Amino acid sequence: MATTMEKIVSLCKRRGFTFPSSDIYGGVEAIWDFGPLGVELKNNLKKIWWHRFVQERVDIVGIDGSVIMHPKVWQASGHTKDFTDALSECKRCHVRFRVDHLADSRFVGIGKAKEPGQCPECGGKDFTKPQQFNLMFKTFLGPVENKANQTFLRPETAQSMFTNFKNVLDSSRKKPPFGIAQVGKSFRNEITTGNFIFRLREFEIAEIEYFTKPGDDEKWFEKWLGDWEKFFINLGVKKKNLRRVEHPKNKLAHYSKRTVDIEYKFPFGWDELAGVANRTDYDLKRHMKFSGKDLSYFDEAKKSSYVPYVIEPTMGIERAFLAILLDAYEEVKGGRTKTTKSSKETEIVLRLDKDLAPIKVAVLPLVKNKPKLVKVAQKVYDLLAPCFMSEYDEVGSIGRRYRRNDEIGTPYCLTVDFDTLKDKAVTIRDRDTMQQERIPIANVVEWLREKFQ
Ligand code: GAP
Repeated sequence: MATTMEKIVSLCKRRGFTFPSSDIYGGVEAIWDFGPLGVELKNNLKKIWWHRFVQERVDIVGIDGSVIMHPKVWQASGHTKDFTDALSECKRCHVRFRVDHLADSRFVGIGKAKEPGQCPECGGKDFTKPQQFNLMFKTFLGPVENKANQTFLRPETAQSMFTNFKNVLDSSRKKPPFGIAQVGKSFRNEITTGNFIFRLREFEIAEIEYFTKPGDDEKWFEKWLGDWEKFFINLGVKKKNLRRVEHPKNKLAHYSKRTVDIEYKFPFGWDELAGVANRTDYDLKRHMKFSGKDLSYFDEAKKSSYVPYVIEPTMGIERAFLAILLDAYEEVKGGRTKTTKSSKETEIVLRLDKDLAPIKVAVLPLVKNKPKLVKVAQKVYDLLAPCFMSEYDEVGSIGRRYRRNDEIGTPYCLTVDFDTLKDKAVTIRDRDTMQQERIPIANVVEWLREKFQ
């Protein structure tokens, strides 16, 4: 059965993956907090991304740029002028919508929109003339709120990688082709929101600006598209749920020569998960013009300078989080162990990649009313906790505790039973195969280490 958004939203709330921001005040539209399990999953995702694209690659270095940058950055990048969506206001209820969303059949069925062109709020069909709306959040530097002090929260992480191009070049001694990578918060004052964490006003982008010699850009574009897709597939996103969508020339972003979106088949339809853009030398040249600084690269071998072209693979962390959860989620009708009382229930297993799993191992004493057994279980937990994100759980029947852990994707459940008191060994159950292995306590850390290599 297909996984619905309702099931994922419910799991996320029930188990503490996500909470609406400022929940006790009724939430803030399109802004979410990540709870104890959500932050683990998100951190693991970012860690794997960093490992794959920064640590493992000799040609990429990372930075952590600031959210607030010089106001001129956004003039140079073109965002103050071009980072806009057309919006229209419903003449009946005065709610505003993105014009392209109003015409999009995927938005039919949301609220009162029964057909494209209808207002989701009231069903009205009469709208004001479209107006351009800039998506950047404005703020002010210092105590005086005037135009001269106005700047913006960054809507993409890319710009600090362009403004730091020379700094990185000089300090790291990299030569094109090389990349700068960054993961960080971005902010967009989206007009239309909804679909849980799909379209947010505060979210994280993981992206790379890959600087190449002009002329080599198209070759690198193809390479990056393949590597970007592979990243998702390696983390359990199903290939059949991914597709490439070429942006038509007349719809390219103001900086792009070519863009291909990697779309994912979300329950509400195909939509953008990630993308690769060929930004040419647009950004570096614009920053050269606005800052007056030389951002060209001097090729020592050829004794000549050029402004590099940039291939930009980008992805939204929350969208990746959502796609990963959707493809990991599985319901087992009648339960996984037919012999237990639970066999009439539907059980949920989150088949997360082990490295993504928020909790790596759960330590479960078979019963909680035998102090000797509980004491050993707590000691095992103390042994594991410094090495792996571990959980200690003694509440409820052992079957229920297995199910609770399956539901959050814990790859290994470790049970301390009566035999442990004699043989100093524990039983470890594998989430996916359900195989159980008896392992001496003295070897457990090593055994688990091997599993996470
Ligand atoms: N630097 C290029 C850039 O920012 P983008 O396609 O506008 O490109 C990058 O955004 C990625 O960020 C997208 O592929 C998407 O996954 C994610 N993203 C964009 N807008 C988002 C939003 N409002 N909420 C959550 N994720 C978003």
